[in-house]
Amino acid sequence: MFRLADRTLELAPATFTDYRELARRRLPRQLFDYVDGGAFAENSMRANEADLHGLKLRQRVLRDVSSRILETTVLGETMSIPLLLAPVGFAGMFAPRAEVLAARAAQRSGITFCESTLSICGIEEVASATSRAVWFQLYVMKDRRFAEDLIERAKAAGCSTLVLTIDLPVPGRRFRDTRNGLNGGLAATRRYRRRFDIASHPRWVRQVALGGKPLTFGNLETAVPAGKVPQDFQHWVTSQFDPSVTWRDLEWLRSLWDGNIVLKGILDPEDAREAVTNGVDAIIVSNHGGRQLDDVTSTARALPAIADVVGDEIEILMDGGVRSGLDVVKALSLGARACLIGRPWVYAVAARGEQGVVDVIESIRADLMVALALTGHTDVNDLDASVLEDISRF
Ligand SMILES: Cc1cc2nc3c(=O)[nH]c(=O)nc-3n(C[C@H](O)[C@H](O)[C@H](O)COP(=O)(O)O)c2cc1C
Repeated sequence: MFRLADRTLELAPATFTDYRELARRRLPRQLFDYVDGGAFAENSMRANEADLHGLKLRQRVLRDVSSRILETTVLGETMSIPLLLAPVGFAGMFAPRAEVLAARAAQRSGITFCESTLSICGIEEVASATSRAVWFQLYVMKDRRFAEDLIERAKAAGCSTLVLTIDLPVPGRRFRDTRNGLNGGLAATRRYRRRFDIASHPRWVRQVALGGKPLTFGNLETAVPAGKVPQDFQHWVTSQFDPSVTWRDLEWLRSLWDGNIVLKGILDPEDAREAVTNGVDAIIVSNHGGRQLDDVTSTARALPAIADVVGDEIEILMDGGVRSGLDVVKALSLGARACLIGRPWVYAVAARGEQGVVDVIESIRADLMVALALTGHTDVNDLDASVLEDISRF
């Protein structure tokens, strides 16, 4: 019976939970934990999902919902549904050329993929695999020439939008990674276990580790030599990333980039106001999927106050814990224009490659279709707090 259930899951994963389970089976434990985990006690990571679930939708009936619009625009770009794929570092460790697969999936579904600075596939490889403009997410390194070089490369590759991630001046403390030795300092016995973990996933070794081009950071070849990814991630980030970046550096960024600039990692209304004052084009309300500071508010809770302060002046995107179309409806009702998903696309690409990512996006589309109808709405662009039960009790 257990085997039959197992097989059914392999054949027809349907939800985020199914893809997560498939990814858990396929990936070495240290890699699964790297994606699945958060910072410190992981409270904010859990709260992202739990607070979205805690919001209750109002079911409304006897309205004409025979035709429904799911399409929207984000910074002038058409999204077939209000969704983007979030930047995820190391994604190419989870499936061969995973960033390319995800960008292609996003294009097939009519949404945008955002490439991380820390991707395995370089921006040129990803951008040339799709005719849809890719967004580029930037981390600023201490040596500013890296940023300047990356911005030039993103420009040359035709990226439309630069996403500056501002919630990682230093890495959050991620204890699952520490236990798995991703932050260095492992005793010999633990190193042996780590190798055993990898060796006991031969499909991953065959397909990803040995399957193609060397696993290196395609955007940072000059910082990290070809064929190597940092063994001690926390130490590497601390030594390379620039924690001295301030609002003033946005001027420097503006002088290098003519396109849209989006700030990712806003959680406080005062910072949202500052972002508007500094002329950025959009913000992403995000706590990095609960991977940075723990015991900060969930993004669902942070969103309404931020939308109150800057919602009329700037486009607001949101991520963290979005797992279904119902979550997207809730986020839009709280003031977001669109959502991003991180872990869901990584689990999907690990489990089923490009088609897995398409299936996850299409599942969210199907949820949205149903959720709009049953809340009595016909257009994602018209959603507001009236879709939800009284949020003052939230
Ligand atoms: C494994 C992993 C790696 C990530 N790497 C990056 C990154 O390189 N740059 C970045 O801006 N955000 C990164 N993020 C954060 C995501 O862009 C996004 O904010 C977060 O995953 C959203 O939460 P969710 O995973 O619950 O959907 C990463 C998230 C995960 C899970």
